[in-house]
Order: sequence, then C-alpha cells, then structure tokens
Amino acid sequence: MQETFRDFLDRLREAGELVDLRQPVDIRHIATLVDQSPKALMFHNVIGYDMPVVSGIIRSRERAIMSLDCADYGEIERKLQKAIDSPIPPIRVNTSSTAEVTMSGDEVDLFKLPIPMSSIYDGGPMITAGVVIARDPELGYNSGIYRFIVKEKSLTGIDIVTPNNMRMFADRAFKAGRPLPISISIGTHPFEIMGSGYRAPIGVDEMAIAGGIRGAPVALAPCKTIDLPYIADSEIVLEAEILPTGWTWPEGRFGEFTRLMGGLHWNPLVRIKSISHRKDAIYYALHMPWENTWLAAPTRYAAIRQALKNAGVIVKGINVTLGGCAFWHAVISIKKQPGEGKNALLAALSVMDLKHVVVVDDDIDVFDPIDVEWAIATRVQGDKDVMIVTNARGKPLDPSLPPTPVGVVPTTAKIGIDATIAEGIPKERYERIAYAYADTAKIADYEKGKTDSPGAAGNEAAVEALASEILAVIAEKPLYYTAIAERFASHDFRTVARAIGHLHTIEKLWQDPEGRMCERGSKFAARPPQK
Ligand SMILES: Cc1cc2nc3c(=O)[nH]c(=O)nc-3n(C[C@H](O)[C@H](O)[C@H](O)COP(=O)(O)O)c2cc1C
Repeated sequence: MQETFRDFLDRLREAGELVDLRQPVDIRHIATLVDQSPKALMFHNVIGYDMPVVSGIIRSRERAIMSLDCADYGEIERKLQKAIDSPIPPIRVNTSSTAEVTMSGDEVDLFKLPIPMSSIYDGGPMITAGVVIARDPELGYNSGIYRFIVKEKSLTGIDIVTPNNMRMFADRAFKAGRPLPISISIGTHPFEIMGSGYRAPIGVDEMAIAGGIRGAPVALAPCKTIDLPYIADSEIVLEAEILPTGWTWPEGRFGEFTRLMGGLHWNPLVRIKSISHRKDAIYYALHMPWENTWLAAPTRYAAIRQALKNAGVIVKGINVTLGGCAFWHAVISIKKQPGEGKNALLAALSVMDLKHVVVVDDDIDVFDPIDVEWAIATRVQGDKDVMIVTNARGKPLDPSLPPTPVGVVPTTAKIGIDATIAEGIPKERYERIAYAYADTAKIADYEKGKTDSPGAAGNEAAVEALASEILAVIAEKPLYYTAIAERFASHDFRTVARAIGHLHTIEKLWQDPEGRMCERGSKFAARPPQK
C-alpha cells in the first residue's frame, strides 16, 4: 500500500512531530506560529474557513528524512539518484477523492481556501505548495513547484522569474499568443514535491522521477476543464491557464528561500478555471524558507555527483551548505589526481545555480567549516587557485545582482576555489600535528592516578657517556628527537636532553632534510637551500 499525504501526516503525528491545534486561530498568525514551532502544526479551526491548515511538515532535517522514509539525509540523495536512473512512469486513474467537491466557472473562489500570508511585506496570500503539471505541444510534460500569489477570486500570478523549463513553456505559449493550461496539485506527498522540484532536462517527466523516489507509479487523474492530469493523492487541485500576458504584472514581495524579503517580481497572470477538493480537504501551506530547502538540497547533491562522475573525478564528500541557502554553495572533497582540483571546479560550477564552489582534498571534512577554512588558508594561492567565470546563468533572486530591465534574466559571476594541495608542493608540508606517546599516555589513566616511573638521572660523566651512545645510533640512522628520547627512556628526559645538548656543544650534531637528528658532516646531513 503506497503512503498518501494523509498517511504521512499520521506518521508525523505518531512520532510526536506534528501538533494538532484545535482552538480558533486567526490565519494571519499561522506563519509566525509555524516559525516558532519545532514541530509541524495542524490548525483545525482557522477562523472564517472550513478547511484545516497544515504547515511545517518538512521544515526540519529529521522530518525531511522521515518524509522520504530514509534512514539518514544521505539516503535521500541515493534514493533520488536511483529514481533519476530508473524513473517509474505515472499511471492514469479515472478519478480521485480530490474531485469530491468542485467549483467551476463563476463559483471558483480562491478566497474560500485558507491560504495564509507569511512575511511582513508579502503582496498577498501565496499558494506555496502547488505541484504544477503542464504540457507543451512539442516538448511534452513538465512539472515543478511554483508559487501563486492570490489576486482575485479566480486570478493569481505565477512566480517563474527563474530561467526554468516552466518559464520556457510559458514563454513559448506567450509568443504563440495562447494560454498555457496547468494543473496545480496542493497537499501532495513529499515524494511528489521532491520529484517535481528536481530540475529534469526537457523531455524527462518529473512525475516519473517522483515515481522512482516512491518506488511505485504516481497515480494521475484527469482534470475536467483542461486536458491535463493532476496528482490523484492531492487534497486540492486547481485547474488553470497561464495567460499570455508576458512578464508584465507586478507580484510579491515574498519571503524567499534566500531568507530575504524578495523584491517586486514581474510575472504572468493565471486564470483559475476550477477548484476541486476532498470533502474534508486539508490545505498544505509550505512554510518559507526551510521547508523549501530540505528537499531541494538533495537534488543539488545528486546533480553535483553526476557532473563530477562525468568529469571522471572521484568524489569523497559533498556539502551543499545551509549558509549558501542549500542553493549557491558547495564544498566538495575529492581523491585528487594532478589537475583535478580545477577539473572538479569546472564540472561543479556548471551544476544548476551553484555560484561558489570550494574543492578540497579527501583529508578535509567538508562538513567542518573550520577544516574547510583551514584548507583555504593553507592550500590556496589566490592567483593560481581562484577561478572566476563571468556571465554565467544566474538566479534572479540573487540580491547581489544589479537590477535588469523587466523580462531580462540577469547573468552571474561564478567563483571556484581550488583548496587542494597544489602540484609540486611537498606533501610533508601538510603533515598534521601528532603528539608523541598519544597511543600510550592516556589522560583517563592519569586522572585515575597513574604515575610514570622515574628514569635514571645522570651526572656529567653519565651525560657524556649517553651522548656517545646517542651519536653511535644516529650515525647509523637519523632519528627524530622524540624517537631518541623514547629509545633512551631508561634515562630521565633531562639527562637525554643534556646529552643531546652536549652533542651540539661538541659540534657533532646536525639534522637531515626531514629534521631528524644525524651526525654532523655525515651523508645524511641536510645542506642549506642554494640561491
Ligand atoms: C517548495 C518549492 C517552491 C518553489 N517555488 C518556486 C517558484 O516559486 N518559482 C520557481 O521558478 N521555482 C520554484 N521552485 C523551484 C522549481 O520548482 C524547481 O527548480 C523545478 O525543478 C523547476 O522545474 P522545471 O525547470 O522543470 O520547470 C520551488 C521549489 C520548491 C521545492
């Protein structure tokens, strides 16, 4: 039996991850209450509406993991990759419970749906969890999630400022002077949210990716007023058309995935032709920004891994960082062959909207910001290891881009930092500090009272005798100071140090190129670098 949206809500509830609020709540308070709650919230009594509202269901890493029935976050990416490799096409069913109540024509009234506002400067209530299905006469089906701001009872905008496939579909329809029919499924399982959020190439049906993630075909039911399907498991479906208005209508502002208040956008209008919903439908208000982030990030992991695989670079770890809004930044560790720091950057910077990428060696923990910064500090020469690409495809929501005229999508600069150890640099410069006796001298033992046995303390004659012994040893084989101290541990350390000091005094001591003690003038002795 396939898990439905409602089954998932029940699972959250059973796990203590969803709290039911049954008292009357003003819809204007919903966004801030969700923001303050570590749990998902179900508002059963939203003042003025007949429908409950659920929000925050994938707003945490843990709930994102739960939503896709995974053991850890990494498994989400593996599941997605499997789905990309082996998509499962959707199946068609004749109808679904979503069709229980239908408003069409003049009855259509978006104001009957409990669509909340969220951030303080929002331009209106925003539908945030609509999974859109469209078809282009030549290019086939496309799905994605796009936001719809409510303007009139049957009119919205659609936020497709970004150069994605849906924008291309709408643009083609606009240029042909025809509307673009779309179905908007609201209240769908995260399987479908993730599948549609994956930016598949034109011609690849994202509902088949969703099926691959689910492990079973997604059931699609037919709309009544347009020749398109909707997701049969959804709570609500809007049948609509993107009108051929072009990118001419002001929309927003809106609190974005960037964690910033987005600016005014210019978008097409959308006419809602019918609204269908279950008799006891639940409205899903996807909460910005984190509910957008947790299932969007794995799509980037998968795309980066694929790009580096194609480039023939062996990847150890990837971190699409939260500071980069799980969107613009990646830190990637690789098992490097010569030159691959740069190849990895070239491949990764082509992925989606990544803007800044750092590539490190496989001894660096990509999830430890201090380790990554340390690699940048100790392995980067700015004139050789920083790559800047200008005029690449950009994300219009990047607030650092200069304004562009309406309808013009801005381009961006991309930066790659190769923080791998450069070719030609001696590896021993990167030997990390390791402490002598780390495997035998344990603090826990000393806290319990362990004592060390005192070595023999020597007089001047004993020091000189020990110095001769040490010299004989290092004349054969250079030794690090600590190795000498250990080798002659029957003496106390002070006596050993004095003996080595004596060898300095009588000018018998030198060091080899690795810093080990050796006999002065011997074949092991280091020479100063020549000019
Ligand atoms: C929760 C959520 C909300 C999103 N909202 C928007 C949006 O309003 N506008 C947009 O262009 N993309 C939005 N996206 C991203 C697109 O859905 C995503 O890039 C998708 O893969 C685009 O598909 P397409 O290139 O096939 O059109 C959103 C993604 C998620 C997960």
